[in-house]
Formats: sequence, structure tokens, C-alpha cells
Amino acid sequence: MKLFDVYPINNITIERAMGSNVWDDAGNQYLDMYGGHAVISIGHTHPHYVKRLTDQLDKVGFYSNSIRIPLQEELAAALGNVSGKADYQLFLCNSGAEANENALKLASFHTGRKKIIAFKKAFHGRTSLAVAATDNPAIVAPVNQTDNIVFLPFNEEEQLRAYFQSNGNEVAGVIIEGIQGVGGIHVATDLFIRAIRECCDQYGALYIADSIQCGYGRSGKFFSHDFSGVEADIYTMAKGMGNGFPVAGILIAPHIPAKHGMLGTTFGGNHLACAAALAVLEVMEREQLMANAEQMGDYLMEELRKFPQLKNIRGRGLMIGFDVEEVHKDLRKNLLWTHRIFTGEAKPSVVRLLPSLALTREHADQFLNALRKELIPD
Ligand SMILES: Cc1ncc(COP(=O)(O)O)c(C=O)c1O
Repeated sequence: MKLFDVYPINNITIERAMGSNVWDDAGNQYLDMYGGHAVISIGHTHPHYVKRLTDQLDKVGFYSNSIRIPLQEELAAALGNVSGKADYQLFLCNSGAEANENALKLASFHTGRKKIIAFKKAFHGRTSLAVAATDNPAIVAPVNQTDNIVFLPFNEEEQLRAYFQSNGNEVAGVIIEGIQGVGGIHVATDLFIRAIRECCDQYGALYIADSIQCGYGRSGKFFSHDFSGVEADIYTMAKGMGNGFPVAGILIAPHIPAKHGMLGTTFGGNHLACAAALAVLEVMEREQLMANAEQMGDYLMEELRKFPQLKNIRGRGLMIGFDVEEVHKDLRKNLLWTHRIFTGEAKPSVVRLLPSLALTREHADQFLNALRKELIPD
């Protein structure tokens, strides 16, 4: 049987990983400035993470949500603590798209309405509603097309307010990434987020903070939406939550009541997933990784700004993007094949940095030195 060929892949086989490094099957060492697409939060194969998962597997790996799973309550308490949202409720699922799918459904259940506002260049995942709220017609199947999603320009407060003024009573929710990832690292302004909060309050809609990529400490705050000083009704989380173990969740404000059967999933919140998520939070706290993300992010951005060849350096914490001009269009390829450094991209010419939140100064310098060699040849 062949694999369904949907991923353009690099011909590299990773066999081992530790911290911000991975090794291929020929023993070559790579620096991971991509974090396996923003997933590696505490570093590859962190010893505490490996132990927590191994110990859990020795006890019980899975049972369904038909019984009590105290690890879920432990995780809810830890999440409430680290996020500062102890009064929110936690629903656990398995992927970013599923988290957004559930958040959008919940907004519709709760308000009894159908319209969702999303933004240009947004990416929210590939399940039916999440993909409909994603601004990329190439990945929206005919069956997913719906008039219920409206795309407004990102960071354009006046257009948001105008839409609410004419249609506010039909809007179930507004979904927005705190920092657009796939769209090319665009930070939602604090003013815009506050305008969303105000409009949602005025018209009884829910504000959904997609924190799949920009959340979980990557920005230096637990949710990048927190920079705005206002709270969302629903936060969606995945990627860094399990450091590679598939686990996702939504935090739901206390004013939204649950009803049995309203949401559900077989695998969501299983014993192993909770152990992975708890290990991540424990390491984040012990090693102060949010502070590290902020410091290393500031350092990288300051140093990147010294390269006149790189344009529009932007982001927050360890979610950084910059534009590369046509003459340097092979930069990512050269970083990978000459310097063995993984980076991310956004079409057509953005380099995205999404390393582990435990990135060291030494690794940041290794990346900057490689960049220097590529941009300023002797
Ligand atoms: C902002 C955002 N939302 C949702 C998703 C979908 O997550 P998943 O691939 O886990 O379904 C992604 C994935 O890249 C994302 O970046």
C-alpha cells in the first residue's frame, strides 16, 4: 500500500531528538527552529516528559470518557493556574481543528445563531467548520462551503464595527488567531482584540481566541490574546499542549453552561494525553519557559533587525516571521541543506521561526551565524 501523497516532504528521516536538536538516520545533527510546526514546546524527548508518559503507560494508557479520569481534573487545575483562568471550564479533544470545530459549534449552540466572523488570511484547521472559517478556498471542499462564515479584513476595526451594526444580532461568534501563523505571522493589535470583545458584548456573540499556534506560552504570555487585557469566551489550544502527543482542548468561560451530550470525543482527555499535557505544564513552570520565550524572542528579533536584507521582522516571543526578498529566495533551503537548520515558511516569501520555548542563547546564535553566512557571503 502507498501513502496518500498529500505532503510535500524533505527527504530526511529523523531517528532521534533531544531539546532543540534532531538527528537523521545518517547521524547528522540538525537545529530545530521550526519545533515540528510549533508543536515542540518544552524540547524534544524531555526526560520528565518521557518519564511521566512511560509511568502512565505502565499503569493505564486509555479508558473512555464513561468513567472518572482524575488526571483530567488535575490538568484542569494546572491549566487554570498557569493561564490565570481558574474559573473557566475545560473540554479535552485531540487536534487543533477539532478544538476550533467544537468552539464554533459551542458558540452556535449557546447563542442559537449561525453566523461566524473570521478574518482574511486566517487558518483554523481542516474539519468542516474550521476549514470553512479558513481563508484558503483551495482546501475548502464543496461540501464545506457555507454562507454562515463571513471574512472581514484583519485588524480593521471600522469594518468590524460596521458589520456588527448591520448584522450583529445574527452573529454567533468571532474567531481570531492572536498571531496569524499560516497566514504569515501577523499580530492582531490589542485595539482590534478589544473592539472584538466590545462588539461581542454589545451583540451577545462569543469571542473565540484561536490559540492553537500562538498560545501555550509561545508569545511570552500563556495566551497571546492576553496582551489585549480582555478575556475571550473560548480559548482553543493544541500544538504545544502535548509537546507532540496529540492532545487539544478548549477553555470555556464560566457563563457558558454545559449540557450532557453537547460535545464529545472518544480519545479526548485519555490518560496518556493528560499525562503528556501535565508533564508539559510542569516543565514549563519549573524551567520558566514562558519567560525564556519572551527573552529569547526579544533577543532574536533584535538581532534579526540588524540584517537589512530581512524585511518586516515581526511576532511575539518565539513566534517570529520575516520577509525574504527574491534574491534570497533559497534561504530556507540553504539553511536546511547547508547548515542543517529547520525553519518554517508561509507563502510566498515569509520565514517562520517556531522553536521550542526552551531554546538556548547558544542555539539562537547558531541560527544567527548561519543566517549571516547566507546573507553576507565572504
Ligand atoms: C491557528 C491554527 N489553528 C488551527 C490549526 C489546526 O490544527 P491541527 O493541525 O492540529 O488540526 C492550526 C494548525 O496549523 C493553526 O495554526
